[in-house]
Amino acid sequence: MCGIVGAIGSLDFRSYLLNGLHKLEYRGYDSCGVYISNGKNHGLYKSIGTVDSLESKVPLNLSFNPHVGIAHTRWATHGGVTLSNCHPVYSSDHRIMLVHNGVIENFESIRNFLIEKGISFSGNTDSEVIANLLSFILSIDNSMTKAIERMMQELNGSYALAIIDTYDTNKLYFAKNLSPLLIGKGEGANYLASDQIPMADITHEFIDLKDGQYGYMSKDDIHLFQNGEEISFEFVSRSSENLDVSLNGYEHYMLKEIEETPSCIERLIKNYIFRKKYTFDKKLLRVIERSTEIIFLACGTSYHASLVAVDILRARGKIANAYIASEFAYHPVIMTDNPLFIIISQSGETADIIKCLPFITDNAYHLLTITNNRYSSLARKAEYYLNLYSGVEVSVASTKVYQSELVLLLMLFDAIYMDLNLIESLNKELLVLKDIINRKEEIKPIAKELANYEHCFILGRGLDYDSALEAALKIKEVTYIHASAVQAGELKHGPIALVSQDFPSLAFISEEKTAHQMRNGFQEVKARGGKVFVISSKSLAEENDSFVVLDSTIYLAPMAKVMVAQYLTYFITLEKGFNVDKPRNLAKSVTVE
Ligand code: F6R
Repeated sequence: MCGIVGAIGSLDFRSYLLNGLHKLEYRGYDSCGVYISNGKNHGLYKSIGTVDSLESKVPLNLSFNPHVGIAHTRWATHGGVTLSNCHPVYSSDHRIMLVHNGVIENFESIRNFLIEKGISFSGNTDSEVIANLLSFILSIDNSMTKAIERMMQELNGSYALAIIDTYDTNKLYFAKNLSPLLIGKGEGANYLASDQIPMADITHEFIDLKDGQYGYMSKDDIHLFQNGEEISFEFVSRSSENLDVSLNGYEHYMLKEIEETPSCIERLIKNYIFRKKYTFDKKLLRVIERSTEIIFLACGTSYHASLVAVDILRARGKIANAYIASEFAYHPVIMTDNPLFIIISQSGETADIIKCLPFITDNAYHLLTITNNRYSSLARKAEYYLNLYSGVEVSVASTKVYQSELVLLLMLFDAIYMDLNLIESLNKELLVLKDIINRKEEIKPIAKELANYEHCFILGRGLDYDSALEAALKIKEVTYIHASAVQAGELKHGPIALVSQDFPSLAFISEEKTAHQMRNGFQEVKARGGKVFVISSKSLAEENDSFVVLDSTIYLAPMAKVMVAQYLTYFITLEKGFNVDKPRNLAKSVTVE
């Protein structure tokens, strides 16, 4: 949520800052801004909306040569989407200019204190409170590093900050707590960003700031502090492999990412299977075997992937439960005394999951973390870690990573129970997925029809219900159609009251044992004027089904059904003329609670 880019030294600031914002835009896209300075001259440019709109405001030929700059793309938390709330924000005396990711929990009391001191505010953000607090502390003690340390003592909450003291622009200051911030070492310049991606083409040498650290950089130097002391640091090398964020000829990231699914699965096979054997850490497998309960913690799409794993484990007599992380953080449930926690997160930065960590570590429970970013906050705090190797997912709605999460979980449990025959089935599943990709045009007419409705049910039983939950989330968040997943047998216990000619259903059929009952239920829906679009597996298909996929091994069936739902979502959204990759009100990684 929100993206930060900054640099000091000799470089093309316009290009670095704006390209960086473009690359981080999927993290928040309400508004954006840039501040550049050479001490004497400065430029502050802000825009509501996309980085494209900002780009047109920053002159191609700047009238001065900047040597420091910061930029930000915002997802509003405190204060509406207005230019005064858009970053960079500045202190009322214009001394401090900063960009901020995160949320300050005690901003209101600090703001009231500053107002009592006669300081005025131009917007409503917690970030402007930080700028004014820092400037206020500087009015008492003029040392920037001391003032930053003092400021950090006052702030409760999460922050990644890039700060310019306009009285001395030869330094770019930074501070971090609970929000990611990375320093990049360059030649004749130093860089920072909230993510590696904007710096990936420039440097491979980074300082991964830890919570509570702050400091400053000049064009040649970096100084790091913690608790009032300057501390030493080492650069760590990070490869830029799998950080490609180009569209590669596709019109939208969502389409590109859906179609990258087979290559993501192939990458998982390459990384976790060698000569037909799994290569997982044996210690981890032992922990899984010995644990009395597996507890999955995740949010949204990642939570839906964990539901399939729960079904697999329970079918094998293992106690397994999946919890929405934001709920577990406040209502933890442990059924047995030796659980293993499995955290699943595409971004590895989700605040609701981070909130659960103290409960796990304070009780010394085992923890396996699965993310798509091995440098993320959750990955770095993991006891055991597995990488999803899916490459960057840019489109806000998760597609390829859902599939990778599912497959990696299945692989892990197959490594223990050895009864899923996954190593063979995965190759067959790749053909099922590629077949859907080849026939995606057949999904368009269904999408065209569904686009006319405001509501729909997604029906499924067993694993198809897990897929229905994911399909409903996808359809809701991108097409803005109200979609609700229902376990098909439950329809007659209440939800059917909503069915009418204006309220259709989409249904998944993958399981033989419930296929007949599913189809009986459709008769009840149709009798009430409701249309049913059936997505079935080939061996269970009937004439008039809307789309038929090749047969999958049962635990892999969600992959095909969800892929069809992803295409449906994509085509419905195009039909309705909405932004596919950046749905309203959302951001890619949810770093605030
Ligand atoms: C939906 C979607 C979200 C995320 C959720 C968790 O398409 O992308 O529901 O799945 O915000 O995010 P991660 O997996 O990054 O923890």
